[in-house]
Amino acid sequence: MKPCAEPDDPARLDALLAQARVASRQAYAPYSRFHVGAAVLADDGRVFTAANVENASYGLTSCAERNAVFAAVFAGVRKIVAVAIHTPTAEPVSPCGACRQVIHEFGSKAVVVSGCDGDGRHRWTIDELLPGAFGPKDL
Ligand code: THU
Repeated sequence: MKPCAEPDDPARLDALLAQARVASRQAYAPYSRFHVGAAVLADDGRVFTAANVENASYGLTSCAERNAVFAAVFAGVRKIVAVAIHTPTAEPVSPCGACRQVIHEFGSKAVVVSGCDGDGRHRWTIDELLPGAFGPKDL
């Protein structure tokens, strides 16, 4: 399927970042108080958002990025073209290693963009974030 949305379009990525920022308001983060939001752009143009969900058993915490990817997959998506992240920081941060691997599973060419409370933005490809990744092609 041809992507409905160009993942490198700056306006498209800005809109995705705005959706990630809104999603961060739904975070359940009483332990870290670090409210993260994510927005996933699927190859059919649909956008799926989520936030981090923590647990009293800390290790069960699930990051915003993984929750958003899983929401997309559950809705039938099998290819994602971009992921936007919003963190409550002065500078943009990059996704954790586990989330990089999950993004790669459904978007080996995905663009990842990060925004924050400050004006900074950062953009990578998933290949830059997880070079030489193990993935579906290896099985
Ligand atoms: N977190 C995310 O949701 N995404 C990231 O990219 C970094 C970390 C969450 C996990 C935890 O709930 C809190 O932020 C602090 O690590």
